[in-house]
Amino acid sequence: MCGIVGYIGKKDALSVLLDSLKRLEYRGYDSAGIAYQNGNGVEVYKTKGKIKDLQQILPCPLPDIRVGLGHTRWATHGEPSTRNAHPHRAGGVVVVHNGIIENYRELRTQLLTEGHQLTSDTDTEVIPHMISKNLASGHSIKKAIDETIAHLRGTFALGIMSETQPYTLFAVRRGSPLVVCFGEGEFFFASDIPAILPYSRKFIFLEDGQICTLTPEGLELSCLDNGGSVPVEDRITEIAWTPSLAEKEGYDHFMLKEIYEQPRTVSDTFAEWIKDPQGLLDESGLTQEITLGLRRLHIVACGTSYHAALIGKYLIEGIARVPVDVEIASEYRYKKPIIERGTLFISITQSGETADTLAAQREVKQRGATTLTICNVLGSTSSREADSVLYTHAGPEIGVASTKAFTAQMTALCLFALALAIRRGKLNYKEACALKSHLLKIPDLLEKTLEKDDAIKELARTLIYAKGFLYLGRGINYPIALEGALKLKEISYIHAEGYPAGEMKHGPIALIEEGLPVVVLAPRDDLFEKIFSNIEEVKARGGRVIAVTDNPESLANKVNDLIEVPTTHHTLFPFVNVIPLQLLSYHIAVLRGCDVDQPRNLAKSVTVE
Ligand code: AGP
Repeated sequence: MCGIVGYIGKKDALSVLLDSLKRLEYRGYDSAGIAYQNGNGVEVYKTKGKIKDLQQILPCPLPDIRVGLGHTRWATHGEPSTRNAHPHRAGGVVVVHNGIIENYRELRTQLLTEGHQLTSDTDTEVIPHMISKNLASGHSIKKAIDETIAHLRGTFALGIMSETQPYTLFAVRRGSPLVVCFGEGEFFFASDIPAILPYSRKFIFLEDGQICTLTPEGLELSCLDNGGSVPVEDRITEIAWTPSLAEKEGYDHFMLKEIYEQPRTVSDTFAEWIKDPQGLLDESGLTQEITLGLRRLHIVACGTSYHAALIGKYLIEGIARVPVDVEIASEYRYKKPIIERGTLFISITQSGETADTLAAQREVKQRGATTLTICNVLGSTSSREADSVLYTHAGPEIGVASTKAFTAQMTALCLFALALAIRRGKLNYKEACALKSHLLKIPDLLEKTLEKDDAIKELARTLIYAKGFLYLGRGINYPIALEGALKLKEISYIHAEGYPAGEMKHGPIALIEEGLPVVVLAPRDDLFEKIFSNIEEVKARGGRVIAVTDNPESLANKVNDLIEVPTTHHTLFPFVNVIPLQLLSYHIAVLRGCDVDQPRNLAKSVTVE
């Protein structure tokens, strides 16, 4: 999942591009490049490594440039290297790309047969050569681009620049996110909002099959297939996010900042609906008739969002008594899902751009089911394609490891379950008020839990050489065990496995050996006695039990390490239990010298299959 950016206007283009690329780096960071018009033609600088490595190879001082484009890469085709870095060029045409060209091999073979010199292993490189070939046959650059796109299969967000029209940029979208924004006499395109947030609040989210032409005089939006012009005015979206939200603001890493933002982002997410949760259903277009006729929910997501979906199952089935099937998106989309009448499909996606989740949502929509997306990014593809949207209000999440978006997703699911239960008469007014009052206390309880940070950091010091971890939980806390294991894996590179505690004796207990760290979520709920037995089983075999609990008096002498969390409603323990696991994985990763915000092999938004 790469990041692309382009600028044309009155500012120093190279500084704007470098600044924007640094904000995009969380989308991919194995190589980077910039191309610009220098008055005599196009210059391209690119290198393996990060933006700081790209800066080392640029001319110093930076030339005074007004138009250019840039790219930061997450390798799909061709290993991370300078020759595979973008921009790719053919003659005076340069291209940056996010996505996958599925038919690039046949296009490449055709170009090679025609004598074109392709020097990389990427799918992208066929694009500038095809545009250049079409230019050579006499087409205008716009027509050359249209002709090229017509022969591409796959997904792409493209930035294109040509020497034949030096003060013009082209941005093309099919299947990968692309936003355009504008200030006074200057225009930008980028893969997502945080990249260009400091420069403007007015955004246009390109639709699939649209091409935007950007010149110093203005921008023109048109359809690729018929060239028809698309009015711009009614597509402008004002984004309330401030640039500081996409800055570290004194924290060592975005991830730590975002962990600490959770009390506020949880309250921001429930603020709109906590007083009248049913308003959430109405706003989502889920009428009385639809919600009373509901017979089943399908909740589909990936990664951490999938763990939130599992929490949603416990909440909705427990409170609203509606059956819920939760599926991993990349499995759901290929299994020919059975979608009966009365099924509501819910996708959960922080970015709103995850390819597998989008594909599942499109498949279900095509089959006529009602779709709701729980999403964190205004104007994202998922939010624009679903029938209705329930926005989380976590603000831009830059750290690749999702934290505040996860607790915001749980908050939205709590509200949804509450609203559904009230409407279907499964919760009376008193019970609903009780649950709401517990939810209102969660931000304060998260603040209290964050106070354990120093103690967790000291605990982390003793765990950085562990070869593997087990995370155990029961009931609604089992998905938190999965989430804690994922956090540790993806930023510290230590293997970890989340497991339902009751399953230990069906196999995983064989893994227990002297000193193996086993993190156990042990809230004071109706399963405490059961989890206590699991702790005993682990201890009896020499495992190192790290308990996360609001019941220290019962566990203090029974476990090796204990992280105390505040007590809350049994359905809300996931909120207080996940914070220590986020902090533990963060500190272990930092102490192991890992790149917490940009872990190896990962990218923030998985916009390819
Ligand atoms: C979680 O820490 C990971 N970054 C990843 O699993 C992520 O949750 C997953 O890719 C889904 O992303 P989405 O919520 O943007 O769809």
